[in-house]
Amino acid sequence: MTKKRPLEIILCAPRGFCAGVDRAIQIVELALEKYGAPVYVRHEIVHNKYVVDGLREKGAVFVEELDEIPDTDAPVIFSAHGVPKSVPANAKERKMFYLDATCPLVSKVHVEAQRHFDEGKEIVLIGHAGHPEVIGTMGQLPDGAITLIETVEDAEKFEPKSPDDLAFVTQTTLSVDDTAAIVAALQKRFPSISAPHKEDICYATTNRQEAVKQVAPHVDAMVVVGAPNSSNSMRLVEVADRAGCPKSGLIQRASDIVWSDFEGVNKLGISAGASAPEELVNEIIEKFGEHYEITVSTKVTAEENIAFNVPRELRA
Ligand code: F3S
Repeated sequence: MTKKRPLEIILCAPRGFCAGVDRAIQIVELALEKYGAPVYVRHEIVHNKYVVDGLREKGAVFVEELDEIPDTDAPVIFSAHGVPKSVPANAKERKMFYLDATCPLVSKVHVEAQRHFDEGKEIVLIGHAGHPEVIGTMGQLPDGAITLIETVEDAEKFEPKSPDDLAFVTQTTLSVDDTAAIVAALQKRFPSISAPHKEDICYATTNRQEAVKQVAPHVDAMVVVGAPNSSNSMRLVEVADRAGCPKSGLIQRASDIVWSDFEGVNKLGISAGASAPEELVNEIIEKFGEHYEITVSTKVTAEENIAFNVPRELRA
């Protein structure tokens, strides 16, 4: 038998599930237990196919819009990313029983945007066009009340109607560094712009990026377990690139590993986006163990002990 080549794996910690994802999945599971199948879920509850497929097998039915759901007594759950106000309004009109799995840290941004609007401020949202969280946040207020800014160039070109009465909020899963640059560009042009009391980028995004930033310069490659439509997972790949890691990329499942990509890699960093379950991290480590003589260590850069309650209806 040929001897396997050694591979040192460094796991980034924290990685994987955050409190908002954990809560959202619990909401679907508890609703299935309490009310039975089907339970309808508007949009992927979290951006991970493995999680979505698992819940589908238990009886969750995923739809993109409420009009795909027949008139029903079955619960309808809104995903962790948050929804425009029109969605619960429409559910109420149709007398649907709905449960909101919006992450409380996304709801906090919705409340902030509403408060700025009530104070008559012009609002800027820093985020990525088309992401469900951005659609949800923009949809808290009437059309035109929020301007989306995606880049420093957008911030430099932005022509507000009320330059002295501006406020900004952000998507929760952005790159900490890119956002700081956009905020700096806005503050340079509009020194009185109101900022969030406490950062909108959530603790989970910040901690996962910091862990990757610390590990990336010391490894030959970084694997981020996560899906391409997961904003925070994509940001982790960018963070690894920028921190000087020669190769970095997303892997969804062990079967996606392209072995030729790891030729010459002696040290490998592994992280996981906030919607990627630890089972997938373990599956991928095991697969590396079949091909290499692995040693695994963990670099812990923060401790997390945050948990969110599920809605009252689902509490025991
Ligand atoms: Fe919430 Fe942040 Fe997770 S906003 S869903 S805790 S990535």
